[in-house]
Amino acid sequence: MASLTVRQLDEKLKKLLRLRAARHGRSMEDEVRVILRQAAEEAGREALDLINPPNPPAQPAPRQARADAVVQKRVVLIIGGGIAAYKSLDLIRRLQERGARMRCILTAAGQQFVTPLAVGALTGQRTFTDLFDPQSEFDVGHIRLARDTDLLVVAPATADLLAKMAGGHADDLATAVLLATDRPILIAPAMNPRMWAAKATTRNLAQLSADGVRIVGPNAGEMAEHGEAGLGRMAEPLEIVAAVEGILRRGAALAGKRVIVTSGPTHEPIDPVRYIANRSSGKQGHAIAAAAAAAGADVVLVSGPVALPDPRGVAVVKVETAQQMAEAVATALPADAAIFAAAVADWRSDSTSASKIKKQPGHTPTLTLTENPDILSAVAHRTSGRPRLVIGFAAETDNVIANARAKRIKKGCDWIVANDVSAESGIMGGDMNTVHVVSASGVESWPPQGKDEVARTLIDRVAAALDGRKE
Ligand code: C5P
Repeated sequence: MASLTVRQLDEKLKKLLRLRAARHGRSMEDEVRVILRQAAEEAGREALDLINPPNPPAQPAPRQARADAVVQKRVVLIIGGGIAAYKSLDLIRRLQERGARMRCILTAAGQQFVTPLAVGALTGQRTFTDLFDPQSEFDVGHIRLARDTDLLVVAPATADLLAKMAGGHADDLATAVLLATDRPILIAPAMNPRMWAAKATTRNLAQLSADGVRIVGPNAGEMAEHGEAGLGRMAEPLEIVAAVEGILRRGAALAGKRVIVTSGPTHEPIDPVRYIANRSSGKQGHAIAAAAAAAGADVVLVSGPVALPDPRGVAVVKVETAQQMAEAVATALPADAAIFAAAVADWRSDSTSASKIKKQPGHTPTLTLTENPDILSAVAHRTSGRPRLVIGFAAETDNVIANARAKRIKKGCDWIVANDVSAESGIMGGDMNTVHVVSASGVESWPPQGKDEVARTLIDRVAAALDGRKE
């Protein structure tokens, strides 16, 4: 198959692609994969003269809806210390044109590049600069700056600011606000290519990404330093605006909806020290809960034992066994959608010993197993109080799609998200996932992508499906 790299595209195409990718919150490479997949599917459909509409719905929001996403939204812009700070002045204007209500924080380093006066003249508001400024603390205060907003944007986000964010520092106004907020954060990194490529920056970005921080850019190009070029230029103001629109649009997509997500493995005790378990890390389920919360849903995450932090803005119910998970899900109902991403143990030990089973020479204990309740199937088959959308997962090692199709029917759910969990796929416990979404009207295979991206796309589809059914 011919290979195509984004670098080979002409500048205009690259710019359009960047905008589109930012709007959808994807990398440029992922955006290219999505475009290719959609084009191939369309060509295939025409050839086969298929008349069934795609399901789940995949339409991006119309232009008007995107523009409206920003109207009357409160945005705190944090301007860090980099030459790209001058572009942030333009960013203020572009967001204001779209109806955003702006407040700006200028770091000490940021003030070396733009002045509080220039920023204040554009926003028509005072520019916040100092954590220990009595006037602003009495007036607004860092906690209100952190909370009374719909989104925080850090542009330019310097290597130092990223490190402080990743480490949870709060020694100036910008970092204190970023630490205190529970609102979405978008960062537009800008730095020298060597600093961008540094191991510490890579580590900090991975941490921020795991914490749910969204990233736009950086782009490749000339640096301010003479003769330097590479990856590190801050995204253009319109790209940042597109990313802001994407986040705010998503932020309202599931407003007023309740979503239950199960995640992680279950542990089925044998005695006080031994249990039956599986290799599920909970990464995919937790990412789905986080994405649903970011889309404005009221989310209950019922989680088995995992080594992951609780996602932001999610009510987490921690359980150990399948029976406890089933009870917690029943308590969390009713819901508009229920997504069962947990790898529930199929069986538990018939009896649990109250004391540790002792090793006895020449004697091997026999374990008798009992079937666990099938939580997904029970919820999907409810005759009253069934969520409008019930989604199961299918972790398969062979015949992934055929098995998923059969599972969808057997479990009575609306969609099955199927993936190949054979050891060579690296999916179990890894950060990437390749899924196939099986619904009543067909199978949609998504490109390999991060579990966060799978989660966001799935939640976009859930929002569209819930909307569609409402009409
Ligand atoms: O039958 P299998 O375990 O392959 O089905 C996987 C799907 O069913 C997942 O969505 C999983 O969360 C759900 N499940 C469940 N309760 C069980 C077993 C599986 O909810 N006891």
